[in-house]
Amino acid sequence: MSAIDKSQQNELVREQFTRTAQVFGDYAVAARVREAELLAGMVKAAAQDRVVDLAAGPGTLALRFARHVRRICALDLTPAILQRARNSAAVEKLANIDFVVGDAQSLPFADGALDIAVTSYSLHHISEPARVIGEMARVVRRGGRVGVIDIRVSEDSQSADIHDRIERLRDPSHTRSLSQNEFEVLFARNGLRLLAVERQEHLRPFDHWMLVAGSKPGDPRYEETRKLLESTMAGDLAGFNPRAVSDNGPAELQITNTVLFIAGEKN
Ligand SMILES: C[S@@+](CC[C@H](N)C(=O)[O-])C[C@H]1O[C@@H](n2cnc3c(N)ncnc32)[C@H](O)[C@@H]1O
Repeated sequence: MSAIDKSQQNELVREQFTRTAQVFGDYAVAARVREAELLAGMVKAAAQDRVVDLAAGPGTLALRFARHVRRICALDLTPAILQRARNSAAVEKLANIDFVVGDAQSLPFADGALDIAVTSYSLHHISEPARVIGEMARVVRRGGRVGVIDIRVSEDSQSADIHDRIERLRDPSHTRSLSQNEFEVLFARNGLRLLAVERQEHLRPFDHWMLVAGSKPGDPRYEETRKLLESTMAGDLAGFNPRAVSDNGPAELQITNTVLFIAGEKN
């Protein structure tokens, strides 16, 4: 992306996550505790470590990592959602988190300054995800660790394209999700030796998935996303495995997010 594209992308991100700071923040912080703890184990977070959680949003990772490490910086482009993280830290009396408004594509740390860099559910909002992995690798010392949690798409480019079209209808700040192979290549290119890779399937009721992105039934964004998603049901063309599920009551549309956890150590 050109510089102008990048600033437009950053504007879309700020718009989306200012609008949804509360609803998305409430969901992510509560629902992702176990994911944060799993990543903390994968990157071997320990008491002396200095850490950055980039694109930290409501503090989903930072609020958990703060319990394991010496100090963590929660960095995000969107002041409104970072404020939510700051409020949670105050309520939870976590005094070892610093909050910085900034761009994950250009981290405010010297080479090798940190022990660990982590990020979750962010790379698919960023114009240059390769640059972010490069920055994460740059700011950790040799022997430092890098950990990423993100939605993973199929290696099949047609399936990945439809997946991204659906995601962009749902949330215009979505750029492109990466496949597992793309993640692994980016780690290798940046001198990160793989420590662990895990995959989880997360079942999501469609209405709630839309709600946390800021739309509800009747909204044009909701209706268009649903229409395109339903058109992929036969043959699961986008990898969401959309299906109608009934628990005696009316059938509910559900999807599956395939989530990748990947951790590497800097050579
Ligand atoms: C889906 S949320 C994920 C938040 C949190 N990491 C989590 O797992 O719940 C994506 C976050 O990435 C942030 N973001 C997107 N692009 C960014 C960038 N270039 N630099 C820093 N933050 C960015 C957004 O502001 C938003 O808070």
